[in-house]
Amino acid sequence: MSLVRTNLAILGLQWGDEGKGKVVDLLSPKFQQVVRFQGGNNAGHTVVVDGQSIALHQVPSGALHPGCFLVVGNGVVLNLDVFQQELDRLKARGFDLGGRLMLSDRAHLILPHHIALDLWREGGANKIGTTGRGIGPAYEMKAGRMGVRLGDLLHPETLADRIRPGYEEVRLRLGAEAASLPALEAVVDGLLRTAEPLLPYIGDTQSHLVTAWERGDRILFEGAQATLLDIDHGTYPFVTSSNCSLGGLFTGTGLPPKALDKILGIAKAYTTRVGSGPFPAEMHDATGERLRQVGKEFGTTTGRPRRCGWFDAPITAHACRTNGVDGLAIMKLDVLDGLDEVGLIVGYRTGEGTVTTKLPSCAADWKDLKPEVKLFKGWASTRGITRHGQLPDAAHAYLEALVESVEVPIAYLSTGPDRQEGCIYPGTFLEPLLA
Ligand code: GDP
Ligand code: IMO
Ligand code: MG
Repeated sequence: MSLVRTNLAILGLQWGDEGKGKVVDLLSPKFQQVVRFQGGNNAGHTVVVDGQSIALHQVPSGALHPGCFLVVGNGVVLNLDVFQQELDRLKARGFDLGGRLMLSDRAHLILPHHIALDLWREGGANKIGTTGRGIGPAYEMKAGRMGVRLGDLLHPETLADRIRPGYEEVRLRLGAEAASLPALEAVVDGLLRTAEPLLPYIGDTQSHLVTAWERGDRILFEGAQATLLDIDHGTYPFVTSSNCSLGGLFTGTGLPPKALDKILGIAKAYTTRVGSGPFPAEMHDATGERLRQVGKEFGTTTGRPRRCGWFDAPITAHACRTNGVDGLAIMKLDVLDGLDEVGLIVGYRTGEGTVTTKLPSCAADWKDLKPEVKLFKGWASTRGITRHGQLPDAAHAYLEALVESVEVPIAYLSTGPDRQEGCIYPGTFLEPLLA
């Protein structure tokens, strides 16, 4: 296969935190453009280099490779304070992004009153366990035509008028609690001050990407969150507010579907979820706790403990179908090392006693579903394995069953957090890319 035309999407297939950051960092040296297209600083993507961990929230995970141009597309919502802090942290660690970064003039801003509204709602009965970063309100304002875009920062004289309608709506909603909001003038001044060093990076990312595509640059698209958190295809209403599955890539960049060649779906060898909502795989026992401790399953963004359970084939198969996944990257296999038995959820038993692999559309209907678990013999160690032929037989058997249950082949297997800990499966589309 020609490398020239392999524009690749990296998409999460579960409820987030699958290890997308590691895979993007690993593949980035082979790409000229690395693009975020949705989400905001609800994302936390960890990259580990020589044992040192770097958490990225809004900056694309190609940041550590000087040959990568980084693009924040129009579908992203940006908190500029946090973005600047992220740039400063990267610079302090020797990664200067000056000259290789573009932020879409159509991307929407996350403003202080969006965060206040998010937190206010999360204090009430309808809490969904958000990251509290103002993501939902920022996307709501976008859909409600009250959003403020990065391009608006280039017109400071009209900025207060752009911000006012959304700000006033939030004030009305918060009632007495609105007293703690900063004044509109303070929001405008604060924003202009933070934005000042970032103004040179604001541009037309759609044109930039179309031009890059036409000249044959290889483009890597970095998904944030994951399919089960997608506002349409996830476990609504316990989802985020963007399309984290494939459709969001096109609306979030302005590139047409034919600009994409392959889709790599990222899934852990088990399942986790942070925040509220349906999660049939959840194990409240010592095995669940073991996965959390060994897998270090605590949120990169909020530090919250992640809910843990066995690999859930029905949700992952749904995600593969939704995105048309070409190959799987199975992450964190090493976290299952040393267990006597490893489980795989192959279906759900319904209240009526039948077994289904169909996902309910309504959160209430998930409550009756009990996981149907198939148990496999455990193995001693896979940590750091770099060739798939070195895997213990029991791990092979488990992965074969996993592949059979989601009907997509494995292209990459991760056996530790570091770049070199993992193996590319021979004969897959990733092989020429990573060779
Ligand atoms: P993302 O949001 O999908 O980018 O994933 P996160 O970075 O939030 O969470 C994945 C965590 O698992 C990070 O701390 C990674 O360093 C770590 N990780 C990635 N791959 C592996 C692996 O194969 N084994 C282990 N033990 N950790 C991994
Ligand atoms: P990455 O990119 C895991 C979850 C939150 C909450 C729901 C809505 O690191 O995989 P939001 O703040 O987006 O309105 O919260 O979505 N959530 C994530 N869970 N990984 C993420 O991102 C997440 N981003 C949001 O916990 O349940
Ligand atoms: Mg994460």
